[in-house]
Formats: sequence, C-alpha cells, structure tokens
Amino acid sequence: MFTFRKMLVPLAVFCVVFATVYGDGNEGRMNENPAGAGDKDDNATVEYYEKLINSELEKALKYELPTNAKMHEPNDNVIRDFGTFDFIIIGAGSTGSVIASRLSEISKWKVLLLEAGKYPNNFTMIPGFFAIQAMTEYNWGFVSTPQKTACLGAVGKRCVVHRGKGIGGTSLLNQLIYSRGNSIDYDRWADLLDDPSWRYENVLLYFKKSEDFHKTNPDAPLDWDYHGKGGDWYTNFHMPPSNFTKIFLQANRELRRNVTDYNGKEQLGATILQLNIKHGSRYDQASAFIKPVTSRPNLVISEGSYVIKIEIDNKTKETTGVLFTKNKKLYRAKINEEVILSAGAISSPQILMLSGIGPQQHLESKNISLIQNLDVGSTLKDHVFCAIQFSSNTSIPEQTFKQLIKEYLKGYGDLAAGNPLDAAGWYETKVQDIQDYPDLEIIPTSYGPSDFGKKFLKWKPDTYKELFSNKLNNTFALTMVLLQTKSSGTVRLHNNNPYSYPDIDCNSLSDEKGKDIDTMYEGIDLIRKLTQTQAFKKIGTKLEVKPLQACSSKDFQSKSFWYCYLRQISIPAFHPVSTCPSGKDPKMGAVVDWNMRVFGVKNLRVVDASVIPFTFSGHPNAICTMIAEKIADVIKFEQRVFE
Ligand SMILES: Cc1cc2nc3c(=O)[nH]c(=O)nc-3n(C[C@H](O)[C@H](O)[C@H](O)COP(=O)(O)OP(=O)(O)OC[C@H]3O[C@@H](n4cnc5c(N)ncnc54)[C@H](O)[C@@H]3O)c2cc1C
Ligand SMILES: *[C@@H]1O[C@H](CO)[C@@H](O)[C@H](O)[C@H]1NC(C)=O
Ligand SMILES: *[C@@H]1O[C@H](CO)[C@@H](O)[C@H](O)[C@H]1NC(C)=O
Ligand SMILES: *[C@@H]1O[C@H](CO)[C@@H](O)[C@H](O)[C@H]1NC(C)=O
Ligand SMILES: *[C@@H]1O[C@H](CO)[C@@H](O)[C@H](O)[C@H]1NC(C)=O
Ligand SMILES: *[C@@H]1O[C@H](CO)[C@@H](O)[C@H](O)[C@H]1NC(C)=O
Ligand SMILES: *[C@@H]1O[C@H](CO)[C@@H](O)[C@H](O)[C@H]1NC(C)=O
Ligand SMILES: *[C@@H]1O[C@H](CO)[C@@H](O)[C@H](O)[C@H]1NC(C)=O
Ligand SMILES: *[C@@H]1O[C@H](CO)[C@@H](O)[C@H](O)[C@H]1NC(C)=O
Repeated sequence: MFTFRKMLVPLAVFCVVFATVYGDGNEGRMNENPAGAGDKDDNATVEYYEKLINSELEKALKYELPTNAKMHEPNDNVIRDFGTFDFIIIGAGSTGSVIASRLSEISKWKVLLLEAGKYPNNFTMIPGFFAIQAMTEYNWGFVSTPQKTACLGAVGKRCVVHRGKGIGGTSLLNQLIYSRGNSIDYDRWADLLDDPSWRYENVLLYFKKSEDFHKTNPDAPLDWDYHGKGGDWYTNFHMPPSNFTKIFLQANRELRRNVTDYNGKEQLGATILQLNIKHGSRYDQASAFIKPVTSRPNLVISEGSYVIKIEIDNKTKETTGVLFTKNKKLYRAKINEEVILSAGAISSPQILMLSGIGPQQHLESKNISLIQNLDVGSTLKDHVFCAIQFSSNTSIPEQTFKQLIKEYLKGYGDLAAGNPLDAAGWYETKVQDIQDYPDLEIIPTSYGPSDFGKKFLKWKPDTYKELFSNKLNNTFALTMVLLQTKSSGTVRLHNNNPYSYPDIDCNSLSDEKGKDIDTMYEGIDLIRKLTQTQAFKKIGTKLEVKPLQACSSKDFQSKSFWYCYLRQISIPAFHPVSTCPSGKDPKMGAVVDWNMRVFGVKNLRVVDASVIPFTFSGHPNAICTMIAEKIADVIKFEQRVFE
C-alpha cells in the first residue's frame, strides 16, 4: 500500500534512503511531477550519479568525524592583512547567507563573508541522503559531554550535535522542512524584547519576502494569505505524496483533528510538509541567496576561512575586525561598520567567549581577558525527539537504485525529500497550559536497522541491537518532538585554544518539575491513540518496542518503563537555540538586544539561531531566514541606505 524503504535510518526528524542492495526491480512509480526538472535522465548522468552515490556511501561509513578544529591551525603566527570591509559576516549558514545577500545589494558596501567550510557538491544536494551527509566533512562533528538525563543509549552517553560546515551551513545537512512555528512564539518573543515589531503579524512580511511557494500537490492544505510568491527561496510539496500520508491524515481525522496548513492561520492539526526543495534538489539558503549573487564585485566570499577571534578595543569596546586562518595562514580583516556573527548556536557563543565576551568567572578560569561580562552560552535549549517503532503488513514495491536516481533527476521520488513520508502533526498535550499552542509534534519516518542509522545517532552497540533486533520488513516510526523545552544546558569553552571544540552540555529532559519528560510521555499516549485508529489498524500496525536492558527493572510498557525508555532513546533534535539569547536586559541573561546588537559592545551583532530565546513550536531554519531578512532591513534603515 505505501512505501517505507526497508533501508531507512531512524531519525526524528527523518529518514534516509540506505542503499546496500539494489538489484533490478520493478518500474518507477510515478511518471510526472509538476516540479520536475525536465529530462536530465540521460544514461551518462544516471551512471555518473550511481557512481557518485556509491563512492560517497562507502566513504561515509569509514569517515571519522573530527574532534577538534586543528586542521585550521596556521603554520606560523604572522598576521597578514586581508583588507578593510564595511561589513564582515562570520558564517555562511542559514542566516549568514541571507544577510550577506541582502547587505551586498547595496553596491557601495564592501561585504566579506567568512566561512570555515567549502561549497557543497552534487552529493550534498540530494535531500534523501541527509543523514549520510552528516558523515562527511560538511559536518563539524560535535558531541555533547556525557549526559545524565537523556541520550543514555548513545555511545559514552553523549548526544550527537550535528552542525553543518560549508557555504549553506546546517541547511546543507538538514531535512529541509519549512516551518515557522506558532504566532504565539513571536508574540511572546516581542513581549520579551519589548518590541512589537517581532510580533507575528509584523514579521509575516519577512517570511513572505523570502518565499517562492509552489503548490506542487493540489490536494495539500495551503493558506495562500500566509505565503509569498516570487521570493528567492523555493518552497513546495514533495511529489508524489506518500501513501502513508493519507493513512496518517485519516488517523488524525478519526481523532477529530483538523488537517491544516501549519504555516497558515491554524497550526494545530495534521498536515503535509512544506519543503525547501527545488526540482528534487536541496534548496538550502546558499542555493537560494548566495549562488545567484557570487558575481557581485562588492561581495567577497572566502571559504576555508576559520575565525578565531573578533577583535574589540578593550577601552572603547569598539569592534575593529576579525582574526581568521585560511590555507594555514593567519589573517586580519578590519571593518568600517560592523561585524555580524552568524556562526550558529554552538560556534557563535564559542567565538564570543574566545573574544572576551562571556561569563566573567568562566572566562577568568580559562585565562581570557574580559571585554564584556554577559551570559553567553548559559541557556542552550533544544527540541528533543524520540522515535517509536512499528511494523505493518503492507508491501513495498521494490525500486532499483537506478530508478530512484532517474526519479530524483526528474524532481520527485524518495531521494527528492529528507522524509518521503511527508506528513506531520502538531498537538497540545495535557502539560500545555497556553491554549491553541502546540507543545508536541509527531512526524512519521521510515525506521529500521542500518549501519548508517547506527552511526548517525551514535547508538551504543547494545542499544542498537535492542532497538532493531527483529529484521522486520515495512517498519516505520512515529517520531515525537518536544517543542516547548523547559530544560536548558550550556556551551562552555573547553580551554582558550580556538582549535579546541567547546564543551556542549545538552542537559535535555532535566527541568526540575519534569515537564519535558511528562510532555514526551503524553506523546507516547497520543501515538498509542493514533495507531489504534481504523486507518492504522487496516495496515496491521504493531508496536515494535522491546524491553531495554537498561530498563529491565521496570514493568514492560508501564509508565516507569516509558520514562526510563525516554531517557535512553531521546536525543536533542538538532535545533539548538538561545546560546546568545536576545532580551531586554543583560542582568536577566540577555546577550543581544531587540536589534541583535551585543550589549555593551559597539558594532557587533549576533544573527543566527543562537539569538532565539526559547524553543519555538516549529523548526528553526525558516525562522533564521526571517531574522536575517529583518535585521538586514534594520541595518539598511540605520545606515539610511536603501537601494
Ligand atoms: C540533521 C538535521 C536536520 C534538520 N532538519 C531541519 C528541518 O527540516 N527544518 C528546519 O527548519 N531545521 C532543521 N534543522 C535545523 C536547522 O538547519 C538549523 O537550525 C539552522 O540551519 C541553523 O542556522 P544558523 O544560521 O543558526 O547556523 P548554521 O546554518 O549552522 O551556520 C553557521 C555557519 O557558520 C560556520 N562557522 C562556524 N564556526 C565558524 C568559524 N569559527 N569560522 C568561520 N565559519 C564558522 C559554519 O561552518 C556554518 O556554515 C536540522 C538540523 C540538522 C542537523
Ligand atoms: C500507493 O497505493 C497505490 C494504491 O493503493 C498502489 O498502487 C501503489 O503501489 C502504492 N505506492 C507505493 C509506493 O506503495
Ligand atoms: C540507455 O541504457 C539503456 C539500458 O540500460 C539502453 O537500452 C539505451 O539504449 C541507452 N540509451 C542511450 C541513449 O544510450
Ligand atoms: C554535477 O552533476 C551535473 C549533472 O547533474 C554535472 O553536469 C556536473 O558536472 C557535476 N559536477 C561535478 C563537479 O562533477
Ligand atoms: C478544527 O477547525 C475548526 C474550524 O476552524 C475549529 O473550530 C476547531 O476548533 C478545530 N478543531 C481542533 C481540534 O483544533
Ligand atoms: C587591553 O588591551 C591591550 C592591548 O591588547 C593590553 O595591552 C591591555 O593589557 C588590555 N587591558 C586590559 C584591562 O585587559
Ligand atoms: C594564564 O596566563 C598567564 C599570563 O599569560 C600565564 O602565566 C598562565 O600560565 C596562564 N594560565 C593558564 C591556566 O593557562
Ligand atoms: C521480508 O522481505 C523479504 C524479501 O521481500 C522476505 O523474504 C521476508 O520473508 C520478509 N520478512 C518478513 C518478516 O516478512
Ligand atoms: C493487514 O492486517 C489487517 C488487520 O489485521 C487486515 O485487515 C488486512 O487484510 C491485512 N492486509 C494484508 C495485505 O495482509
């Protein structure tokens, strides 16, 4: 009936085509996709992709992610002059790419975009391989410190913290789900900043400005009033919609939940996912905002450039420039106007602290002279996900690898999405006390044993065996995502060496009142109700959770069993925020103000996921783009320059 490739990797927010065996098989499933890129499937191209993918898969399984940034260390300490720019942007990720594009529209401004990684390649552009892309040099390879309250089933009790490295940043590794969160998120944020311009009704124009929405699936729910056309960022629906989506939506209808456009008027309910995928290819922020403008003479894009410090005059607190390494040499670039730090929720706090901005005691303990005492890295927050496995009695049409590639080249099929089971649901649990405000998401994903899945989430061999002991066909997961996280962790310097990775303590499911884990337990209850609907019963849905060794003292499937299970199997959902939180008052922990300027320091802004002060009821990628669009306009306004 519907397809779950056998092969898939477990992921919250995600599944991936895993390809060990691909003999000859049946015909493709679908002839035409309105978004299709046209007739690219000549034999030579298909063969090229087959070879490329095979060799990348082989490399990925062997690849060891780095544990530090020593590859960026220079050969000597001579500082070379890289010149003076009006604006320097650190990090060409989801946010930095958009800022660089918008600022360089002003031709008299000289803009330097520094990025530690490199340009993406044909393999990283295939959405279906997002988890494999995390096993390449496009991932920094961070892991957390050993944990006590979650990630307990992972090697060393360390959570994986996948972060993208390259022109495109984490949008080169992500699942490309286009999601804004709830209007209440923005209204809360505006209140916290005391700035109504961040209310949803006021930021909506920036979401629309970026967007170029294509309603490729005529049956999908869509509120056009909330979407833009003609922007730089292509957004559409996966084609063909998976058969599973129908089942999932039907199950939700049986439970009297609406089917809605989750980026429209009403978020609560079940939905078909909107994706930043163009003609089957990853449409990350660099593809949308940077690649079209690389020829602008006033925009210098410097790849392989690793920033070690923002230079700030310790008397005037004026930012003067940055120090970075490139090709084993050390450089200084200076500014006329501003440095904009967009290195993401892990690296931005690290760079600030290395530059003397951070908690005084912490910096003193690492022998770094203080420029500004601020709560940098003190409130790391993230969504948390946990996948619950099921089996069914449906049959999956087998597809050869060649067929999958042909479909991909035409812009559809399983390789043309991060999660081909393109559905999701947004729910309120009993724990939520604000009305009409989802605190839990459920995403159906393909889920089954695979070496890639094991490596992607770094399961301990024992945990992995317990999760995937049965070699079942047609398994799937309902993956829940905790949205309004109460727990918080930290990002701290390991030492004052800029080539060390920071210490990341995720500290998920640790809040004192236990609201986070209570919410996830409510999620298990909700998943049980969903799978007891006619829609799921018709396909012979069966829970495939085994008693874990670590939880053997609990009655299987009792409440205490599930709480134990959740601490073993839950992992932060790769959506870290709030490590340089925006707010009114640095005494209350704020690092940047309502215009994302660092408190107490001149000519320095942080603009990326780290300024989002709490986890929103949506995934962060589109939120980052909106923030970039808005702050670019703020800068143009402050500088009285519009073009
Ligand atoms: C597996 C996975 C799936 C995800 N799925 C989704 C999804 O479907 N939808 C969604 O909305 N979100 C998703 N996310 C999260 C989303 O992609 C991120 O929240 C978002 O990309 C963060 O953007 P950013 O600009 O804050 O940081 P980034 O995009 O990480 O950009 C930071 C950039 O700075 C560079 N940098 C860092 N340090 C330095 C330095 N010292 N010198 C120079 N450059 C530096 C990095 O290389 C990087 O390019 C996912 C994430 C992952 C890992
Ligand atoms: C989807 O369902 C249709 C009709 O039930 C079936 O013919 C088709 O093979 C299914 N597709 C997949 C990919 O399972
Ligand atoms: C492409 O390959 C198929 C079989 O793999 C072959 O029948 C066909 O002739 C080839 N087409 C071209 C243009 O080479
Ligand atoms: C990427 O793939 C395209 C075909 O889709 C091909 O024309 C191009 O040469 C490839 N790029 C590289 C670097 O191999
Ligand atoms: C479904 O939508 C209707 C109409 O907008 C609304 O009145 C109702 O509350 C919604 N139901 C749920 C469960 O959200
Ligand atoms: C300020 O910076 C200068 C030049 O780097 C240095 O010599 C001096 O010790 C610093 N002062 C303080 C108080 O850190
Ligand atoms: C701190 O810096 C001082 C002066 O540079 C040096 O003497 C001392 O060894 C450093 N301490 C540590 C722990 O690095
Ligand atoms: C799974 O599929 C394979 C090949 O299609 C088949 O041989 C095997 O019996 C199936 N296993 C189960 C448990 O259904
Ligand atoms: C799957 O199981 C359901 C419920 O037991 C049953 O009604 C249905 O006929 C089964 N379908 C197949 C293809 O075995």
